[in-house]
Amino acid sequence: SGLAGLFAPDFAVGTALSNTTLLGQNPSLESLVAREFSAITAENAMKWEEIHPTADSWDWQRADYFVEYGQRTGMYTIGHTLVWHSQMPEWVFIDQDGKPRPKAVVQKAMEEHIAAVAGRYRGRIQAWDVVNEAVTDDGKWRESHWYNTFGEDYFSRAFHLAREVDPKAELLYNDYNMTIPAKRDFALAQIQKFRKQGMPIEGVGMQAHVHLSEPEIAKLEASIEAIAAAGLEVHITELEVDVLPKAYDYMGAEISTNFEYSDELNPFRDGLPQKVADQLAARYESLFNLFLKHKDKIRRVSLWGTTDAESWKNDWPVVGRTNYPLIFDREGRPKEAYYSVAGLKGES
Ligand code: G3I
Repeated sequence: SGLAGLFAPDFAVGTALSNTTLLGQNPSLESLVAREFSAITAENAMKWEEIHPTADSWDWQRADYFVEYGQRTGMYTIGHTLVWHSQMPEWVFIDQDGKPRPKAVVQKAMEEHIAAVAGRYRGRIQAWDVVNEAVTDDGKWRESHWYNTFGEDYFSRAFHLAREVDPKAELLYNDYNMTIPAKRDFALAQIQKFRKQGMPIEGVGMQAHVHLSEPEIAKLEASIEAIAAAGLEVHITELEVDVLPKAYDYMGAEISTNFEYSDELNPFRDGLPQKVADQLAARYESLFNLFLKHKDKIRRVSLWGTTDAESWKNDWPVVGRTNYPLIFDREGRPKEAYYSVAGLKGES
């Protein structure tokens, strides 16, 4: 039913469940998600820092709830994420004396983590974001602790292991700014190299943290085509449309969390002007138009949250910013953007 029902012949339409949606804290949002979407991703609940904060402690509460919700509602359920440089507890890389742990120890930690997490949910997760954000915007391996400790092999090792542990899950590489040719081409070239050596992978997740006019549709289209031409499924992941001016456009600096709040950084604190709501609806319409055009290549389109109230784009990069990037408003009512997307399938 809902939006996902309209797009069911084309691709799954998903959302992310924030931590405040889990554990029965928000039953009305749970039913909204069940009505409107056919895929779910855990926004934070499966990240290493949350699930495995110290070497021998695990906190499965939220992740278990997420997976059970997915099963109960028949969702295409995505695990996010097994190997990422961010939200990592320090113990994985640094020992009690503050010294870097040797490669063998870090590798073992990664292997045990994948075995434990993917193993716990074996058969109940339809796709894993196995590795997240391993490549820089200028097309190099990100010099993360993972890379610095055991080189590029960590990437293929993670995929091999995920396949061994949960053979039925689709395995994905997920990254942002995949519209930058240098980044995308490097990522695809590395994936192809590893595949020739036997690495299992089904698809690439293009995170879509986009703005009202950037990146242009043509750039997104080129990336969808490049991923498909490499023989991989396209997953549009983490979609939302930021309606605020980019902070650095008027701060004159790279995004940093050191900005101080000012009203100038928060132009829509009293509500979204109609003109911008129209632009947002038009942007969503052209995005979904593009996805429909390439439905033969696209397995899933997932928003990064359901209502504007939950979006990480509020309070970012400065606490106090009010954003409107999603298709349901703060009260859970469908916005004009929702209707423009539904309208593509003949619903008004
Ligand atoms: O839950 C804790 C809370 O207990 C603690 O008191 C509070 C104080 O910092 O932090 C809370 O955790 C926050 C968490 O979100 C849950 O709200 C973290 O600080 C905060 O860093 C975390 O932000 C998430 C971010 O990833 C970092 O993990 C965002 O919600 C989430 O939307 C964002 O998602 C990422 C994707 O995973 C990967 N791609 C980019 C995307 C956007 O950054």
